[in-house]
Amino acid sequence: MATTDTMPPIAPPTHMPSSLSPNNSKITALVSVADLATPSNDVQFDASKHLQFTPPSKVHTMKELGYSNDVGVSHIGVSEPFPLFSIEAIQQMRQEILSEEVWAKYRFSSNLAQCQLRGFAAECAPFVYDAWRSPEILAIVSKVAGIDLVPSMDWEIAHINISTPPDAHKSKSNVSQDDEAPIVDWHTDSYPFVCVTMLSDCTNMVGGETALRKGDGGILKVRGPQMGCAVVLQGRYIEHQALRALGTTERITMVTSFRPRSPALPDDTVLTTVRPVSDLSELYFQFSEYRLEILEERIRAQLKIMRDRRCARRGFDTKGMKRFLSKQEQFLVQMNREIVDVEKVIKGFTDDSHLISEELKEQAKKRARVGTE
Ligand SMILES: [Fe+2]
Repeated sequence: MATTDTMPPIAPPTHMPSSLSPNNSKITALVSVADLATPSNDVQFDASKHLQFTPPSKVHTMKELGYSNDVGVSHIGVSEPFPLFSIEAIQQMRQEILSEEVWAKYRFSSNLAQCQLRGFAAECAPFVYDAWRSPEILAIVSKVAGIDLVPSMDWEIAHINISTPPDAHKSKSNVSQDDEAPIVDWHTDSYPFVCVTMLSDCTNMVGGETALRKGDGGILKVRGPQMGCAVVLQGRYIEHQALRALGTTERITMVTSFRPRSPALPDDTVLTTVRPVSDLSELYFQFSEYRLEILEERIRAQLKIMRDRRCARRGFDTKGMKRFLSKQEQFLVQMNREIVDVEKVIKGFTDDSHLISEELKEQAKKRARVGTE
């Protein structure tokens, strides 16, 4: 189990990125405890040194969460937090993520979350990038998830959520609605699986759980991970929210998204929650590339089936071909639907189509009405 008491104090910043809004006091306050400097590139990811994996004490199956067998791509719904990275790995990741270049180029905010860093890993964070693409990490995440997974795409390697606590000096009656709001509101993820890793010291943290909506409408709260620990969640199919944490100066989580490795399995990825907080050109390229690769593999497999039948002097399998074509038609319709015309995407705004239950949609509408009154 990773301990947090060896973490050295974080140096104050020497400079601020120009993209930081001066009136965004909460984020500026957070940055004041972070070292926004140029990271050192001399630490390379080494699984034997930087992983500190212990299997989760429990995984909750979809069945235990009240979902029927046909929901999701795996029978696993969510894991309890488990140790994943060493403290040295977390320190290196923080250095790369809290760098001037990342904050200047890759910072996004939306109606769902105030401060996110997205899409930076391939260009600015080699350690983070290599870690999430390493065979060792993929084997661990796949084992916990109960299905062989790969990162959804480079753009989704190490999405970062950053939050600051409510002002510690406020009395309870003065805590605003904004302060009590969850860090990330109710949503389903765009990708089949996520692995959420804690990058902050949570020794004194109260709260900070992930709340999951069960099939029967009940709520399961999964404890928030400690620094270096992770939670694996089939977030595309389970509505969830990150609850606010008290007693910490910052809460930085790293979310990497995954999809099934096998092209034969369904890919239910949508871009609903990520379109408004992405470089669309990059997102659409990477989405199209891997989806067309899946199609390429499926067509090759179907051609082989067709040719093998012919070699064996069997007749053409009309029904089989029509089934294959219908499936790929749906695959392409879904893909086309997700690639929304650029001029129709509202930057920083996600509508409620990512919510599954009517009750939550109604709650979101009410909140929006209160917000505009
Ligand atoms: Fe999520």
